[in-house]
Amino acid sequence: MIQIPQKGKAKEEIFQTLESYKGDDLDWKSGRVMGYVYEPGEKAKDVINQAYTMYLSENALDPLTFPSLLRLENEVVAMTAGLLNSPPEVVGNFTSGGTESLMLAVKTARDFARATKPQITEPEMVLPITAHASLFKAAHYLGLKPVVTPVHDDSFKADVSAMRDAVTDNTILLVGSAPGYTHGVVDPISEIAALAREKDLLCHVDACVGGIHLSYMRKLGYEVPDFDFNVPGVTSLTTDLHKYGYAAKGASVVLYQNKELRRYQIWACSRWTGYTVINPAVTSSKTGGPMAAAWAVMNHLGDEGYREIVREVMAATQKLIDGISHIDGVRILGRPDMCMFALASDSDKINVYRLADEMKLKGWYLQPQFARENSPANLHISMNRSTVPQAEAFLEIFAETIEEMKQREPDDDTNLLYAELEKLSINYDEATFFKLAEMVGVTADQLPDRMEKINKLLEVLPYDVSEFMLVEFLNNLMVAARTQRPD
Ligand SMILES: Cc1ncc(COP(=O)(O)O)c(C=O)c1O
Repeated sequence: MIQIPQKGKAKEEIFQTLESYKGDDLDWKSGRVMGYVYEPGEKAKDVINQAYTMYLSENALDPLTFPSLLRLENEVVAMTAGLLNSPPEVVGNFTSGGTESLMLAVKTARDFARATKPQITEPEMVLPITAHASLFKAAHYLGLKPVVTPVHDDSFKADVSAMRDAVTDNTILLVGSAPGYTHGVVDPISEIAALAREKDLLCHVDACVGGIHLSYMRKLGYEVPDFDFNVPGVTSLTTDLHKYGYAAKGASVVLYQNKELRRYQIWACSRWTGYTVINPAVTSSKTGGPMAAAWAVMNHLGDEGYREIVREVMAATQKLIDGISHIDGVRILGRPDMCMFALASDSDKINVYRLADEMKLKGWYLQPQFARENSPANLHISMNRSTVPQAEAFLEIFAETIEEMKQREPDDDTNLLYAELEKLSINYDEATFFKLAEMVGVTADQLPDRMEKINKLLEVLPYDVSEFMLVEFLNNLMVAARTQRPD
């Protein structure tokens, strides 16, 4: 078992070791990682680093002790709200990310319903299947029932008449995405919000990934569907700064129509023996780093900087979409509204999970997404400033890889996998996990390099079984390091 070394190590050794640990990580600096990382470029990065470390030790637990953090938070929230057609009554908070922001929006809706509709004891939230997983997580953590509705066949936008049918006496909240991560398309927010108004419900817009980018597209004259506080009936909205705000990770904003609603977000505790606790967000003690870094990057890039980035990123996205559309055997799903999209294939020779593996071998990361309801298996691409210079190289390698795959015979792996699954009796225990894991070549102590079979398995298993598998996988992977590093 690894232990704290008896004697402290020199700085050089510490950083050498850290560098060596990074060896197997995705090389995001190459600009070939089409997800996860949003990079504003070296100059802005320097400002972010400096602001982050300047506030590393300040504790945002208590804005009265560190009033500069209160000021930074209020200014970051104001700058964000200013992009989103917010009337002066709109209020909000800084959080650690999309998940925390959404968790808070759902908690606020739940507690508002408890106060205003006490007859509802089993609250429900209606959300399209394209809503982000963190909303399902929020429902799970907070005891709401997620009522999932379909999206339209070719556009992948929320089917609002299905949402209407899903509303019951227990519904407290409707959700739409701007855009949904999977396909990058914006839901019909005006219609969802109108339905919420008609039924006296709250309406949350998840603009975590899109809020900043879409608002600059709008300023640049792109056609952008209405998605923010200019839509009557929108009562809360989340937007992440650590995505297309290009801030350091740990930066998001949750906004509410007014203070009356935000009241239900805030938690205070004076009934224990310790210091007074008053938290707007989920976390309590936290570094001021992300807040200061977000403030710094917004002020450093300014309106002009964001416009320039969005212009560049949109031009590169269009290049990719046009290029991919000309490649026989793959197609873009729906009509993406910003700089992220999904591509699928109808050819029996192009299994997208294998395509992702092949691209990864060549140094490119595309994100596999499972076939769910009417959305086929696909690969997701998010463009950002760091991937722009690689757009042409991507198209070349991508087309070449598709050609190579077309030359090969279609494989029969999926049918073999189905046949093996038929023979298995699935129990929710570790033995089943290890049996299934073995079938797709996963071992308990090593990260898999090819994901095709694993993705296929996770796709075909019933949701509760695949979720059980994923939990077991991580539960086995995340164990205290047992072997001592060579010193
Ligand atoms: C639409 C949307 N909502 C929520 C999230 C969750 O954000 P985070 O990973 O910051 O918790 C994401 C992440 O990509 C997203 O795209």
